Amino acid sequence: MKKQLSLLLLAVSLLFSCNQEKPGGTLVTESFGEVNGQEVQLYTITFPGQLTAQVTNYGGIITSLQVPDRAGNLEHVVLGYDDLNSYQEGSYYFGALIGRFCNRIDQGIFELDGTSYELTANDGPNHLNGGREGFDKVVWEEVDQQINRDVISLTLQYLSPDGEEGYPGSLTGRVTYVFTPNALDITYQATTDKPTIVNLTQHTYFNLSGNAKEDVLEHELQLDATAFLPVDSTLIPTGEIRLVQTTPFDFTQPKLIGQDIDQDDQQILYGMGYDHCWILDGGITNTPRPVGSLFHPGSGRKMDIFTTEPALQVYSGNFLDGPIRGKDDQVYDTRYGLCLETQHYPDSPNQPDFPSVVLRPGEEYTSQTTYVFSVEE
Ligand code: GLA
Repeated sequence: MKKQLSLLLLAVSLLFSCNQEKPGGTLVTESFGEVNGQEVQLYTITFPGQLTAQVTNYGGIITSLQVPDRAGNLEHVVLGYDDLNSYQEGSYYFGALIGRFCNRIDQGIFELDGTSYELTANDGPNHLNGGREGFDKVVWEEVDQQINRDVISLTLQYLSPDGEEGYPGSLTGRVTYVFTPNALDITYQATTDKPTIVNLTQHTYFNLSGNAKEDVLEHELQLDATAFLPVDSTLIPTGEIRLVQTTPFDFTQPKLIGQDIDQDDQQILYGMGYDHCWILDGGITNTPRPVGSLFHPGSGRKMDIFTTEPALQVYSGNFLDGPIRGKDDQVYDTRYGLCLETQHYPDSPNQPDFPSVVLRPGEEYTSQTTYVFSVEE
């Protein structure tokens, strides 16, 4: 009897300790295919029952991210493809790292220290997201991985040669993805051997509904941003800094993306919806501070955004001219993903009043952004 009781106690305590101590995360590396004879990897990060992610060193692309809804169902919350070839041929920048300069530069031309530089024009007359073969279309080298129970990190590096896409200087770009059971943290670093410009970001399209069941119009967005940058018809900032108050761009209180996205407003017409840069309150910070959140009431999934950057490009997937066949047989259509790209202002090299994007030898460019996932009732 005594023996039976002690066995029962042991079983109960084991059950209790199992409940308390969830298993740690794992990182598995496998081949994702080849690019120009170079093997490319797919990294799978799993926190059982919690965040699960996949990253490839081709373009530093986050190919998959799954988090639970309020009932605990793990589902995809980012758009992506199943195979490497679709990423190579794709033009939507799904999940990719963007460099050397994200967003647009007017006519692809800028001046630095009295010299004029001409970058690839790959978006009508303008330079977009680093050019024809930007950081999203190159193979990054894996330089570190760390697995530490609830903190798993992967560091990728890319050496961009002097003159690539027209940019001056050899630039070493480094990105560290840190995954925890409920968050993704991204640190960007860069150094150069000649004066140059740099502005790195991440082009993940979020859709918190789960497995892209619907477009993003029923998501609630909140941004600590009292102003935004109006653009011209080619989406280049005019230089004006406009208050969001009384415009469709006011997200200072949580608001459905769909509420004002089709308003008869010149800026909305130019972007075909939201494709604008919001100026985040607080400017540039040393450590990431909260700047906003995205919430999907249907699933209960919420994502809080933290960054050191002074601005955020909100792009509501207006150019997703679907239907696009995505991963796991998902089908993406117009406005099925929302990009929340932390960054310095677009076209800054041509706007002396915008925060500087110049990087000089001996200096280090750094930027950090964290996306934290939770559920709300
Ligand atoms: C960025 C731009 C958009 C669009 C996408 C790519 O987010 O702001 O205008 O070009 O990239 O489709």
